[in-house]
Formats: sequence, structure tokens, C-alpha cells
Amino acid sequence: MEKKEDIVRDIRLLLKERKAILLAHNYQRDEVQEIADHTGDSLGLSQIAAESDARVIVFCGVHFMAESASILSPEKTVILPRMDAGCPMADMITGSDLEEERRKRPGVPVVAYVNTSAEVKALSDICCTSANAVRVVNSLEEDRVYMVPDRNLAHYISRQCAKEMEWWHGFCPTHERLTPQEVLKAKEENPDAPFVCHPECRPEVVDLADHVCSTSGMYRFAREVSQKTIIVGTEMGILYRLRKENPDKTFILPSESLICPNMKLITLEDILESLEGMKNIVSVPEGIRKRAKKALDRMLAVPRDF
Ligand code: 13P
Ligand code: SF4
Repeated sequence: MEKKEDIVRDIRLLLKERKAILLAHNYQRDEVQEIADHTGDSLGLSQIAAESDARVIVFCGVHFMAESASILSPEKTVILPRMDAGCPMADMITGSDLEEERRKRPGVPVVAYVNTSAEVKALSDICCTSANAVRVVNSLEEDRVYMVPDRNLAHYISRQCAKEMEWWHGFCPTHERLTPQEVLKAKEENPDAPFVCHPECRPEVVDLADHVCSTSGMYRFAREVSQKTIIVGTEMGILYRLRKENPDKTFILPSESLICPNMKLITLEDILESLEGMKNIVSVPEGIRKRAKKALDRMLAVPRDF
């Protein structure tokens, strides 16, 4: 077994040699975030993937994220170091499920959370992430909207937007595990601490939050809030950067079960192995890619503020 420093050195050399960049989602293992060229949320990473002039993108995240990078930049080689790193929420709706829902609601636009397969994106009008969902829904002319696949995100958005909304019944098993009782206990133990949570949490948990935002939004919140202790309702990988960027602050995870097993699959060894052999390349059939790209491009064109 090679030493960690040797593996990191070899990865860096190969990244340079292959004109590659390494992107890591905010939930990745600490050691993966540590060597990434960029860490970020789904929106930030998809923007970087679209704009970068690298030839190869090593995407340390889950399958739909690498797929989005490949949809946006088909001329680049996109590597997902572990092909089995999927997102259970994205797998909760198929293309034929969505076709059936569309047939029931002719003319109603479909907003697909990026946590979906390329096939589902291709059947949608526009994509969104947790960072821009309110802006995306408000950007639509229609008064009715259908959202897939996350019932919790959709429920949260329906309370922020004056639209008639319906949604698919998917959810994130990791965020779903956080209970209001666990949050209330953490609040009782830390009475001055604000609670920030991800909109993938259940509505009863979101109701207890002082601030609801994407993973990157949490870094901003942690920086700007005056309190020194913050309760965080999302996957534990977020703690790496929160603690690094705010050494004077304390971050409390209200539950030990906030771990996404899929986000933890990729190791440094996997990155090295896939780069060495240029293995685990993610690509999307051209017909699906073109239609999915339209939905992603439309999302990326939504202005940041109205
Ligand atoms: P964001 O990073 O976009 O907030 O998404 C969270 C998530 O669950 C990704 O799988
Ligand atoms: Fe999917 Fe939830 Fe894991 Fe994100 S945290 S990849 S939504 S299962």
C-alpha cells in the first residue's frame, strides 16, 4: 500500500499530464476535498465544469453530477472514480414515470432537480439545484409547475413561490433521517446556536431552521453569522470546510446518521487508479444529451437576481 503523500503526489502529476481538473462535492471525504482544484455545491460545480478549458474532469461526487458535466461539455472526458457512486434519490424516478406524469398535466412545465438521470433531465423543461430552485421556479411564466424528484425540496419551494405546485414523491434517504426531535435536542443543548439546514430535510425539520440553503450557502452563512456555535442539518462532509474556514466557531451535527454512503465511496486510491487507466468515463447518448443540455442551459441562464 502506497503512502498517502505518494498517492497525492502521483494524482497531482497525472492531473497535470492529462490537463485535468479535480472537482469535489462538499460531501466528499476530507482527503478528497483537500486535494481538489475546486469544491462546491451542485450548481457551482456544474458551472465550473461548463466553463473550464480542462480536457479531463475528474468528478468526485455522485453519478448525476458527472453526467451533468458530460452533458454540458461533451468534448471533455469526464471521470467518476467510482461508477457505483449513485444517488438513491435520483434513482427514485425513471423516464417513463415522468412521461406518465407529463401526460396527466399537459402544458405544465417540469422542473427537474439536478439529482436526476440524464434521461429525466431530457424530459424536463428546466433544471434547478438547491441553490437556485426559487429563482428557477419564479422565472417560469406558467402558474403551475411540476417538480421532480424531491418532495421535500418541492414542498419548501412551494412555500417560497406563488405558484400552484405538484411533485414526485422522491427523497434523500440521508437528509430524511434527521428528525425534529434530534434538532430540538441540539437546540436545547445550545440555546443560542442558529440552525441551518438543507431543503432536502423533512418539512418538520425545515420548520425549525433559522436559514435554509444549499451546501455552499452554508459556508456563507457560517462566515456571516455572529454566533460562535452553529447547528448544521446536512451531510457530515460539510464539516471539513466549515471547520477549516471558521476555526473560532463550533459546528454541531444534530444526528450521527447524516452520512451519505455513496458520497463516501471515492478514495484517493480510486482517483489515482481511474486517472492512470483513464477508466470510469461517464458519457451520455447524443439524443438524450442534447435535450438534457437544453434543460441545464436554461437553468444556467436564469439571472442570479430578479
Ligand atoms: P447541493 O450541494 O447542491 O446543496 O446538493 C446537495 C446534495 O444532496 C447533492 O447530492
Ligand atoms: Fe443523493 Fe442524498 Fe446522497 Fe445527495 S446526500 S447524493 S441527494 S442520497
